[in-house]
Amino acid sequence: MTQTPANPGKIVLAYSGGLDTSVAVPWLKEHYGAEIITLTMDLGMVDLPSIQRRAMEVGAAKALTVDARDVLVDEFLFPALQAGAIYEGMYPLATALGRPLIARCLAEAAISEGAYAVAHGCTGKGNDQVRIDVGVAALAPELKVIAPIRDWGMSREDEMDYARERNLPISASKSRFSVDENLWGRSAEAGELEDPWREPPEEAYEWTRPAADTPQEAVYVEIHFDRGIPTAVDGESMAGSALISHLNTVAGEHGVGRIDHVENRLVGIKSREIYEAPAAVTLHAAHQALENMTLSRDQARAKARIAQEYADLVYNGLWFTAHREDLDAYVHSTQRYVTGDVRVRLHRGTCTVVGRAAPQALYQHQLATYDRGDTFDHAAAEGFISIYGLPVRTQNRVQRD
Ligand code: ARG
Repeated sequence: MTQTPANPGKIVLAYSGGLDTSVAVPWLKEHYGAEIITLTMDLGMVDLPSIQRRAMEVGAAKALTVDARDVLVDEFLFPALQAGAIYEGMYPLATALGRPLIARCLAEAAISEGAYAVAHGCTGKGNDQVRIDVGVAALAPELKVIAPIRDWGMSREDEMDYARERNLPISASKSRFSVDENLWGRSAEAGELEDPWREPPEEAYEWTRPAADTPQEAVYVEIHFDRGIPTAVDGESMAGSALISHLNTVAGEHGVGRIDHVENRLVGIKSREIYEAPAAVTLHAAHQALENMTLSRDQARAKARIAQEYADLVYNGLWFTAHREDLDAYVHSTQRYVTGDVRVRLHRGTCTVVGRAAPQALYQHQLATYDRGDTFDHAAAEGFISIYGLPVRTQNRVQRD
């Protein structure tokens, strides 16, 4: 990379304020001779002004911030909820859904700032590097993507030394785990969690109480969905991000949403992950319950297959593809009648659907009931069974030896 001093070029770095990306600011400057513009996105739990200050302290030429919470919810989380996307039946995909948005914000910032490259703090071992690199390549293929942590080969201690030598104002707080979080959930990996036999220590969890330490009384929440989108809790209309935050608090308080999963990474390794996703777990359960009321059997079966395809695609960093758009079109169509209310009981680490109601439910009481008012044609059952059982009878008559 040869840049003349008169035109040093600009790099936009996705900046979290942690050690890695703080060290990346001077490192990129030194290695690329570029001006570093940091970009910090709030996807749920970020104190933007303090991170912006730190970015300037570690040498950014400019520190951009974006409150991306509503976009995250509307364009990524809720479509994934409607799709029923849960990776390997366990992981609601919080990090995986945040990365394409980070890629998009990076590309947009680079273009408006006239930067030739974007940079991010992913390591060379995870899925996140793939999601961001592929995301940027899809949206702005002319941009170079730099992943300093993947390239520099520094240990954490080396990074601390590097920071000290340059007087970077960085606290040495070493967390025991590698953590990522956004509105949809929190993930913790590495450290002692790498022993899959070992029960995660309580310190691995931050959003949820241990079941033994939750309120004795269950709490009930009623969630309203409008065509598959949650719009109100307990009768109170809420914007998506507020609704998710609220459920994270309430369900987390009751210990709901802890997930301990050994998952298959895209890069070919298995890793043990600890997730907390109180709102996502609650909303997926409620949404599924409403679909059970409103989708036909065939729709439900097909949709379950699509859900898995959708989850794999999100996990594998293929958000910005025509395939995802096609799947979204299908999912969107399935949600036409997924409107109604679901009642969920949260208690001692469990989330149980206990009630559901939908104005256009396929569940019809007069067909289901065993009581008076039954409209199901019992006599017709006999003829149905005769035809339905015909091939079974035929085979047993002809081939029984
Ligand atoms: N294993 C999860 C995923 O691939 C979480 C990754 C968390 N990332 C992190 N940098 N700690 O989506």
